[in-house]
Amino acid sequence: MPSVRDRVRVPFFRYPHVFAQHRVEIERALLGAAQSGAYILQADLRAFEDELAAFCGVRWAVGVGNATDGLELNLRVAGVGPNSEVLLPAHTFVATAGAVVAVGATPVFAEIGPDHLIDATDLEPRITPRTRAIMPTQLNGRTADMDAIGAVAERHGLAIVEDSAQGLGSRFCGRMAGTFGVAGVFSFYPAKVLGALGDGGAVITNDDDTARALRELRDHGRDEHSGEVVRWGRNSRLDTLQAAVLRVKLRYVGDEIARRRELARRYAHNLGGVWEVLLPPPPDVAPGDPHLDVFQNYEIEAERRDELRACLAERGVGTLLQWGGKGVHQFPALGIRQRLPRTEAILARSLMLPMNTSLTDDEVDYASEQIREFYGAR
Ligand SMILES: Cc1ncc(COP(=O)(O)O)c(C=O)c1O
Repeated sequence: MPSVRDRVRVPFFRYPHVFAQHRVEIERALLGAAQSGAYILQADLRAFEDELAAFCGVRWAVGVGNATDGLELNLRVAGVGPNSEVLLPAHTFVATAGAVVAVGATPVFAEIGPDHLIDATDLEPRITPRTRAIMPTQLNGRTADMDAIGAVAERHGLAIVEDSAQGLGSRFCGRMAGTFGVAGVFSFYPAKVLGALGDGGAVITNDDDTARALRELRDHGRDEHSGEVVRWGRNSRLDTLQAAVLRVKLRYVGDEIARRRELARRYAHNLGGVWEVLLPPPPDVAPGDPHLDVFQNYEIEAERRDELRACLAERGVGTLLQWGGKGVHQFPALGIRQRLPRTEAILARSLMLPMNTSLTDDEVDYASEQIREFYGAR
């Protein structure tokens, strides 16, 4: 007989919840789309694009196969290509840097600050005559200091290409993640705030020409009206079935974000007094704080991180090291010769606690209690 402690009490994530949460409506949407016979670039996709654009307060959303493609296409439209350099954080998914490499440019990494997002003060020393763009990753559902980043971009004539894959709904100074450059990118990977039942992504923009170029690039370079091939493109269309699911989930995204913020508040209340852990900035910010975070992830820093993680696993609490605990520059196979001492020090202490809307308050309390016990906190 396995003991209670052998059982998973609080899994890091429950994938079936992505479907189960709004099961009846999703079933209806899927069946409707399946029976319609309209599978590629059809009504549900158009409607989702309009609804997402309205949610973000922009003119256009263009559905793509995944956020990685969205980043690559966005870089191409921004004119980033061979012999260019792009500044980005190393505490990001390899996809951010992979998109840079895919357009023939070179990723140059800047340090992150205490909130785990790109440090705007570390950009200027890394700018060269070849630098073309800054790619801030709006990590963990928090938007970076876009005033400071925007000022650097403006001073040096650089494009801003936001990786807001994790940032849907988050804001800085009231402005949504994804709206700070000409275009911004979201991921609908199932574990995201807006999660599909598979891969999906979108690029948002206010610029008509950029939207048209993106629609062409995602559909083999074809003009969306005439079908004439007007440029080299590829196939990266957001699947209409996924769009049908996303339409349902977008209707509830406000509740999703509110609940995540409630869970973050609960963690902050439970763990606030434990000096061995450093928590993300709490959702109830001081007056004047420009951030509104959506808590895509709850990434803490912890003393004796690996011991804590093992202890939590033994007590049935799932945790995760984002990117396996390594910055992009720390994968030897990629041949990146940069050292980023501050980023590396933060990554060596970082740990993601369960954060998703399948969690009950009791589960967050249980996970928190195990952390308190580990550190002997009263
Ligand atoms: C920061 C970041 N960038 C890019 C991506 C890539 O998104 P996708 O899986 O939709 O290509 C992800 C997805 O996990 C991400 O978290």
